[in-house]
Amino acid sequence: MKAIVYTAYGNTDVLELKEISKPVPADDEVLVKVHAVSINDWDIALMNGDFVNRMLNGFAKPKRTILGSDIAGVVEACGKKVSKFKIGDEVYGDLSGRWGGFAEWVCAQEKMLEHKPPVMSFVDAAAIPQAAMLAVQGLIDVGRIKSGQKVLINGAGGGVGTFGVQLAKQFDVEITGVDLGSKLEMLSKIGFDYVLDYTKTDFTNTGQQYDLILDVKTNRPVFDYARALNSGGTYATVGGSISRLLQTLIVGGAIRLFSGKRMSIVSLKPNKDLAYCNELYTAGKFKPIIDGPFQLEDFQSAIGLFVRGEHKGKVVITI
Ligand SMILES: NC(=O)c1ccc[n+]([C@@H]2O[C@H](COP(=O)([O-])OP(=O)(O)OC[C@H]3O[C@@H](n4cnc5c(N)ncnc54)[C@H](OP(=O)(O)O)[C@@H]3O)[C@@H](O)[C@H]2O)c1
Repeated sequence: MKAIVYTAYGNTDVLELKEISKPVPADDEVLVKVHAVSINDWDIALMNGDFVNRMLNGFAKPKRTILGSDIAGVVEACGKKVSKFKIGDEVYGDLSGRWGGFAEWVCAQEKMLEHKPPVMSFVDAAAIPQAAMLAVQGLIDVGRIKSGQKVLINGAGGGVGTFGVQLAKQFDVEITGVDLGSKLEMLSKIGFDYVLDYTKTDFTNTGQQYDLILDVKTNRPVFDYARALNSGGTYATVGGSISRLLQTLIVGGAIRLFSGKRMSIVSLKPNKDLAYCNELYTAGKFKPIIDGPFQLEDFQSAIGLFVRGEHKGKVVITI
């Protein structure tokens, strides 16, 4: 089968399209014919091989050599212990920790997959798992979003933000999106009430305050975010600079004690809310914003677009 393989850490040059053997499912796994896969920030971090990701995937060189976690496809074979799926089922999910989705076939444990509703395309399904889970868990589980609130998403033009605005709108809130100027028109079209270009405006210094901030970038001191929160407000970060995240963890408790503002880090629970996304999608309340789709052979264009941060929504590769 064809797969995008990497055997050393580095930039996109380490990725190669190769012919390798098709995987065989273990007893608790299904073999999925992959129809579409989306790119996540985590794929790029694993490719680059920073300290944290080397701890996960090998210090000297990658142990798992095929990246790609968010897949959609069709079950082609089932291990003996599989009960949730049968051959021919259309499935999607986040294979984080196992990866392997940048390939024509991948094996996955059944807990990593959910049934794909018939109305959902494979391209849309591949876009959803990781980014939509972070948006749901950031806004609803951690952020406890409520009707009438003022909400802001920092880093609004990528996967989490473009799902986040659609989820937030289910709660009838006023929502602001912060991203690069070239993405603001798209952000207004998909429902953001206000948009800010981060190269021109520092949203923590405008005097505006929000009830809930969902942050994808976390590149400021935690006190700046606290200043932009209303009394009793919540800041929920899904990722960004490690030192800023540590600061949020360490200083966040003290801020809460003295001001009542909650400074929280969202820890991804993969695939937990896919059934909820199925409901919203089937009801026409939720539609991924797709950049592409790109063909597998054109993977360098797809990954390059993502690495340069020029993508809008989710970058999807079809296989
Ligand atoms: N918490 C967990 O357990 C967990 C698990 C997996 C992933 N993650 C994290 O989740 C995040 C993934 O988010 P995503 O999929 O939405 O990423 P994404 O698609 O890369 O989107 C990020 C957006 O932020 C914009 N941006 C860049 N610099 C910015 C700045 N200074 N201010 C405001 N916006 C800025 C980018 O645009 P430009 O680059 O064009 O400016 C891009 O539109 C990552 O931080 C990842 O590390 C967390």
